[in-house]
Amino acid sequence: MRHKPHYGYYALPVVCSLSEAVIALGILTYLLISKLLGMLLTAFGAYTLAAYALSMLLLHQDRAAEFSDILELKGDELVLDAGCGLGKVAIGVAKNLKSGRVVGIDIWDRREIPGNSPEKAYENAEIEGVADRVEFRYGNVLAIPFPDETFDLVTCGSVLNNLSDEEKVKALREMHRVLKPGGRFLLIEPLRNLRGLFLFTPFGFWKLLSRREWEKLLKEQGFAVVDYHCCDGMGFFVCEKLSLIAPQKEARLL
Ligand SMILES: C[S@@+](CC[C@H](N)C(=O)[O-])C[C@H]1O[C@@H](n2cnc3c(N)ncnc32)[C@H](O)[C@@H]1O
Repeated sequence: MRHKPHYGYYALPVVCSLSEAVIALGILTYLLISKLLGMLLTAFGAYTLAAYALSMLLLHQDRAAEFSDILELKGDELVLDAGCGLGKVAIGVAKNLKSGRVVGIDIWDRREIPGNSPEKAYENAEIEGVADRVEFRYGNVLAIPFPDETFDLVTCGSVLNNLSDEEKVKALREMHRVLKPGGRFLLIEPLRNLRGLFLFTPFGFWKLLSRREWEKLLKEQGFAVVDYHCCDGMGFFVCEKLSLIAPQKEARLL
């Protein structure tokens, strides 16, 4: 049994193989075609690896997420962590609960986190002393396996940026559906801004959304952003569930 939790290196296989391919191409170009172009390609490959290492360092993957400043919890909430991975967010929330419980769902994609599994998430919960307050189970954010209006709080950290635009909307609608009326939603996402350009590898940066784009999307899917924090390139959007009225119905009401 480990003594320290570890929440995994996000997208490690993808970043390493892409960076290695760029470096190998750079070396070949240097030897066979152009020294200058070869050096530029190799430097770019090295930069992507350095940006990745920096982002992982800043995310402190040996610590659960800290929410006491962001979320005021009573301690009895029923919480869903959508796309929980190895439990960084779920366990961070569970630390603030007494009689409440966090259910983490994930499809346990190992390309996103090497060794991704509920067993590893439970091991982290055990080490952090919250195993009695968490439950991890298979579940897709695009079809959340819970009835409407089940949870007081839904959290979702670094999951949506990997989904297509259509899937982002579908996932947000699902999270809206399973929240109780007036329930809260915490979305945590890496942001496309100047800081993010240096923090996140160019391979992933191009598909990130800005703060304004997330706010627009959240509003369109029935969430009011009531608080916002930014830390190390990550945006924390604290939202409240509003009732989502279908556009035709809304038009008739006006
Ligand atoms: C970058 S990791 C973040 C994990 C965790 N939320 C955290 O903050 O450490 C993204 C996670 O989303 C999961 N994921 C991706 N698509 C998903 C889907 N459609 N439904 C559920 N989980 C998904 C992956 O398996 C992975 O565990």
